[in-house]
Amino acid sequence: MDQAQLRAPETLEELIKQLYEIFSTDKINVEEVHALMESYKSNPADWSKFAKFDKYRYTRNLVDQGNGKFNLMILCWGEGQGSSIHDHSNSHCFLKLLQGQLKETLFDWPDAKHKNQELTRKWVKIFHENQCTYINDTIGVHRVENVSHTESAVSLHLYSPPFNNCHCFDERTGHKNQVQMIFWSKFGERTPFETSVSKENN
Ligand code: SIN
Repeated sequence: MDQAQLRAPETLEELIKQLYEIFSTDKINVEEVHALMESYKSNPADWSKFAKFDKYRYTRNLVDQGNGKFNLMILCWGEGQGSSIHDHSNSHCFLKLLQGQLKETLFDWPDAKHKNQELTRKWVKIFHENQCTYINDTIGVHRVENVSHTESAVSLHLYSPPFNNCHCFDERTGHKNQVQMIFWSKFGERTPFETSVSKENN
């Protein structure tokens, strides 16, 4: 599908259908996916069944496994909740705001030659409802936060190829740690509670 053929999806379901078409080929056109995701006008009636909040941390809720080509998920951010600084395991990451606002802080990768150095901030941006942003590991590492004390936020993320682990970074030292990413729910159903090793949604 070339960009000229894109039409704004009227529902989340339609968006997913168009994503399947785009991802049916092996070459990903980042601008095309970005434009498609941005063109969907958020409607809570489409996605509220996936939007599950937790009092203590942001949640990751799997919506679709994209034929193994991508994972599409809805992240729910309570007031003041945010992610650790993390990379994207060599995948593409698209983030679209469905509700509220999110702040993205982008950092350079830690300097391999200079250990124990604070990460360098490249920019801070605020994203509003319906906007979409994109990152991959060549751009840097980032942290995403809902800085509002009164409003929650909901975002739609597409990762391609899907991944289950990433690295988290300490801002003051650049030290990194591998973490396993977990889903709070899958396809609208709470995922069974795991008691074994410590797993984090970074
Ligand atoms: C984010 O981009 O901050 C969300 C990371 C995640 O998928 O948990």
